[in-house]
Amino acid sequence: MSTTLEKTLAAELAQLREARQYKQANEIQAPQAPHTRMDGKPVINLSSNNYLALANHPRVVEAGKRAIDKFGLGTASVRFICGTMSCHVELERKIRDFLGCEAATTYISCWDANVGVMPTLCPTPDDAIFSDALNHASIIDAIRLSKAQRFIFRHADYDELERMLDAPEGRKARNKLIITDGVFSMEGDIADLPRLKQLANQHDALLVVDESHATGVLGETGRGTAEHFGVLGEGTLQTSTLGKALGGACGGYVAGAKVVCDYLVQKSRPQLFSNALPPSVCYGAMAAIDVLMQDGRALLGRLRENTARFRAGVKELGLRSIDGITPIVPVIVGETATAIAMQKALFEDGVFVSGFGFPVVPKGEARLRCQISAGHTKDDLDTCLAALKKVAEKFPESRGGP
Ligand SMILES: Cc1ncc(COP(=O)(O)O)c(C=O)c1O
Repeated sequence: MSTTLEKTLAAELAQLREARQYKQANEIQAPQAPHTRMDGKPVINLSSNNYLALANHPRVVEAGKRAIDKFGLGTASVRFICGTMSCHVELERKIRDFLGCEAATTYISCWDANVGVMPTLCPTPDDAIFSDALNHASIIDAIRLSKAQRFIFRHADYDELERMLDAPEGRKARNKLIITDGVFSMEGDIADLPRLKQLANQHDALLVVDESHATGVLGETGRGTAEHFGVLGEGTLQTSTLGKALGGACGGYVAGAKVVCDYLVQKSRPQLFSNALPPSVCYGAMAAIDVLMQDGRALLGRLRENTARFRAGVKELGLRSIDGITPIVPVIVGETATAIAMQKALFEDGVFVSGFGFPVVPKGEARLRCQISAGHTKDDLDTCLAALKKVAEKFPESRGGP
């Protein structure tokens, strides 16, 4: 190995350790569930995207096993060569019907779905992509892979977006995409879809919404941000993941107009050059969608009750958060080192919650990102709130104290 490269890497890793930004994953030794085992001890998990507690649901697990029996472990091929199995076709139909759109096509992850959409639909400098500053890293990287002009507007500042769309460069662009997260992963706030849709219509742009934290979470029946705002089926394109509420395994999709999905199947590189979804994931995700369609109202009712209880508790403790209704509840504690120390103290008390600092969130806004699941009990949430109270007293700087 090149000694220069080795030295550079070692120095950067040392810097990360010194800045206390070196990530050390806890080892989870049981299924992903609101109660699990980590590093040898039982914990309440307040940090997973398992919003509907379907990752270890018996029907989802059984469906995955059935798929392995029927199709084996994997496709050993990309979709267009010999990797399209009936489980892919069935899953894509199910997603399409669930969302009430014209078509859907799957990817190995939502990361790949985003990387499939942006460079493929906006491949030239004549095109333009307008993106919220707090969009997910996969969107940022997808935009980097496109040769289109980039316009990054301040988070949720749709007046600034409108000015960009109205500027001469925006006006004369050929293909135009406006891209936003539906639910923002670090803030837990929701994009104003009706306003974005109106701007997209006025400026002949396609609105693309990454629904990763909204699918199975928002809307009366879990169909996401569009359902939340009552604008389902109104001409947006969405990307989303199967790796959060819909079973938590992996996989992503693009859903919307048939012409767009057809084009992506022909042209988007992550689907053309990377293996298709494993059959167990297809069947597991289909079972998750079935559970959501059958028991969704009860599951979503529990998720919302739990979220409201936890958000109210955080407020009562006087902790800094961001108001909202989604199950992503950030507790902002200031410095990265404080967030990491609080994470450790909470873990000692049997609560796992992940601390995030710069560069994932702005400097001085490090946070504990709490994520609520329909599978948490009221007792779980009260235990977590009691642990948060104790740890906030131990670290008064987390409330802006001495
Ligand atoms: C908003 C958003 N988009 C995309 C992704 C990537 O999803 P996947 O794990 O399916 O690649 C995530 C995952 O954290 C996300 O939060």
